Amino acid sequence: MFRSNMMDFAAEEQVFYPDISFSIRANVRDTRIYDWAGIDYEGFWATEAEQLHWYRPWDKVLDWQPPFAQWFVGGKINACYNCVDRHLSSWRRNKAAIIFEGELGDQQVLTYQDLYREVTKFANVLRGLGVKKGDLVSIYMPMIPQAVVAMLACARIGAPHSVVFGGFSAEALRDRINDAGAKVVVTADGCWRRGKAIPLKQNVDIALTQCPSVEKVVVVERTRSEVYMEPGRDLWYHELMQQAPIGCEPEVMDAEDILFILYTSGTTGKPKGIVHTTGGYLTGVTSTHRNLFDLKEDDVYWCTADIGWITGHSYIVYGPLANGATVLLFEGAPDYPARDRFWEIIEKYRVTIFYTAPTAIRLFMKWGEVWPNGRDLSSLRVLGSVGEPINPEAWLWYHKHIGREKCPIVDTWWQTETGMVMVAPLPGITPTKPGSATVSLPGVAVDVVDELGNPVEAGHSGYLVIKKPWPAMLRTVYKDPQRYVDQYWSRFPGLYFTGDGARRDKDGYIWVSGRVDDVINVSGHRIGTAEVESALVEHPAVAEAAVIGRYHELKGQAVSAFITLREGVAWAPELEKDLKAHVAKKIGGLARPEEIICAWELPKTRSGKIMRRLLKDIAEGRVLGDISTLADPTVIHQLMNKKSAF
Ligand code: WT7
Repeated sequence: MFRSNMMDFAAEEQVFYPDISFSIRANVRDTRIYDWAGIDYEGFWATEAEQLHWYRPWDKVLDWQPPFAQWFVGGKINACYNCVDRHLSSWRRNKAAIIFEGELGDQQVLTYQDLYREVTKFANVLRGLGVKKGDLVSIYMPMIPQAVVAMLACARIGAPHSVVFGGFSAEALRDRINDAGAKVVVTADGCWRRGKAIPLKQNVDIALTQCPSVEKVVVVERTRSEVYMEPGRDLWYHELMQQAPIGCEPEVMDAEDILFILYTSGTTGKPKGIVHTTGGYLTGVTSTHRNLFDLKEDDVYWCTADIGWITGHSYIVYGPLANGATVLLFEGAPDYPARDRFWEIIEKYRVTIFYTAPTAIRLFMKWGEVWPNGRDLSSLRVLGSVGEPINPEAWLWYHKHIGREKCPIVDTWWQTETGMVMVAPLPGITPTKPGSATVSLPGVAVDVVDELGNPVEAGHSGYLVIKKPWPAMLRTVYKDPQRYVDQYWSRFPGLYFTGDGARRDKDGYIWVSGRVDDVINVSGHRIGTAEVESALVEHPAVAEAAVIGRYHELKGQAVSAFITLREGVAWAPELEKDLKAHVAKKIGGLARPEEIICAWELPKTRSGKIMRRLLKDIAEGRVLGDISTLADPTVIHQLMNKKSAF
């Protein structure tokens, strides 16, 4: 059973070498790329950047004023032009850019020419609504082609987008719209989920009662459910598009102009707006997408992430489209109408590259081989994994039952902040070990260090850090540069701290174990314990709350909440249900606690600090660590008894 991949030494010894028939055709065939890029990483990234279309070349590759970086200084570029227009001057204009599979089995194909038409029309719509270069647009949408169109249209006119995952609640949406100061919101009436129409516009309506910056809302018709349209504010996408002209001059952007912001959870209650800029980001994601997945012209590439997360931004939209790839976009769930929906889609479209998350793989394992075995998966040639450590058992299952033992697996370690993959094998040259994301990509310098910031010796564990700037790195936290400095650059002077723990093995391979801060990773989604705690204490019944991540067989980690009640409130199953719903309403379903444990008192040190480590031990059923600093040891017994309830 999966506990921690760091404990699985036996599996670590298993090494899979790239297949020679794959290697000889691979985009990256020469192992010297690591050395060359290591010696001259600026030169390496400059060569990668040259593959893009620039209006004006850069004067300087990197301006590094730690911890603030500028890449391709003086360069002028437009991300949308690179993802769309560039492909129109060749046969690629008739290549499928997006193959869309709706949840109900409806399908739609957009060629690059089609994409150009839709994107330029929508760019004109946005300009018509008064969106100018530098204005922020929030996007709250399901996985439908219009979401990609909206992102690219923003990029075209130089309006940074802020995509908010459709699973976030109205309140979470409100906070993100307000932090960004968005002028326009693009949304849909709803989306399909397991055959049911889920409302989205309703959440926007609730959010907008407290969002003074928003002037217009554009609504895509998807489920045709009834929605309220506020006169003068809300407009239908299809009506606006009918009148919009095709063709829209792209804004010439500075390499360092903001392309987008994306909110992610940190160690405080307030999500951070991670800022990504244009030239370096596009260089990083385009290069890594091509090399990691060995992208070929005729591939059908499918990444199952949602565009609301960084994976969707970098590896559904910007990287793949800049490379002129055919991208499959799927709206629905893996088990609707049946548990082989993913395999049915792979069979239907002859998908060649498949990129998904360990939590999904563990679910497929649980459902059994019978589902993939019933489908023809022979088109697959490269598999990817992202979001959390992949346990060796899941890796081996993926390799055997999905890859049919002929596909390399690229386990990709990265973060919202890194923008691009940082640690992963190159499928034609890097031997893989199940459970390890292997080594830094060429031009990237990830390391494992001890408390003092010194590299750990082989076989030791420490903190995962990044030693050199990289082109797709976050530039700052939106409107809060101090938080950028404190959060990432203060723990180890001169090093970027990822928040992850890792071990380096005798071959120099990196084994990421997970977060070492107050951030939990539930099914590959990041949740700050402080956010859940503040949601809980806002409830009138709750006096105090401590939230931790505990081991969960499918999700990797689950949210576990410990609370004390206010005077006069009695604990009851209905209250637990109510509190869970309250958290979902405040943040979104993904933050809903798995269990809520009510106690008389939370374990605290004599100075009043809650001992989360003990709570984690209790939740995971471990022998308790040191309790000598505990103010009141009897608290623990009570909690242990409660725990037996789950
Ligand atoms: C955190 C970043 C990058 C897109 C998805 C999540 C964990 C991610 C791996 C991996 C081990 C991984 C880390 C990281 N993580 N990929 N291949 N192996 N851990 O983005 O929400 O920014 O979360 O996810 O803990 O810090 P995110």
